[in-house]
Amino acid sequence: MTKIFSPTRLVGLVALGVLLQAVAIGAASAETFFKYKNGKLERPTGYREWIYVGTPVTPNDMNDGAAAFPEHHNVYIDPDSWKHWKKTGEFRDGTILMKELVSVGSKAAVSGAGYFQGDFIGLEATIKSKKHFKDEPGNWAYFSFSTPDHKSLTETAEPFAAASCNACHQGAAADDWVFTQYYPVLSQGKAAGKDAIGGRKSDLTPLMGMGK
Ligand code: HEC
Repeated sequence: MTKIFSPTRLVGLVALGVLLQAVAIGAASAETFFKYKNGKLERPTGYREWIYVGTPVTPNDMNDGAAAFPEHHNVYIDPDSWKHWKKTGEFRDGTILMKELVSVGSKAAVSGAGYFQGDFIGLEATIKSKKHFKDEPGNWAYFSFSTPDHKSLTETAEPFAAASCNACHQGAAADDWVFTQYYPVLSQGKAAGKDAIGGRKSDLTPLMGMGK
């Protein structure tokens, strides 16, 4: 009895408990923002409260009436990967970016003619994970939850073949398969620390070259 409850043994047990907890937290934190099981990604939720990085728009009427990814693409990165990006300028293992497709709702506003957002019509994702996608170039895998009629979303998605999505990203994206050249929040925030967060004078530095 005395042996079992000896102080050294107790300290040892507590230390083991702390270690196991640390391992469990470490394993969970890399994948807090998505769940990938049996070759399927569960549709992530809550991403509109992540970090919003920008909205490229490739409208049908500028693409012979049939854009590959029609209309606006609202892009978000998970907050932990954003923190890592502004600190190191790299996408950490476990990064997830969501791309929400939004139709062109109107082409005229009181401010002028343009492309204004209408309805949510689709959802895509990309994830970098050595553990799950060790055979994908750059460890990036690509998913779509959009249905063909663009009226609902699937519950799960399987990764596309590399030729369908990954290859174009690998060849043309500015940073590690991600099109940061179209997201100033990311390109200007790269390893910029506090200067990445907005509202600082340094935000306008690139504008000083305008008009040349
Ligand atoms: C012909 C090239 C091309 C192909 C093929 C392609 N993409 Fe992209 N993708 C882009 C470009 C360019 C952007 C950024 C600008 C935009 O959204 O139009 C982008 C952005 C994204 C983003 C936002 C994060 C990022 O990496 O910039 C996701 C998510 C995405 N694509 C998913 C997919 C999926 C899923 C497929 C396959 C079904 C796919 N892409 C196929 C060119 C491509």
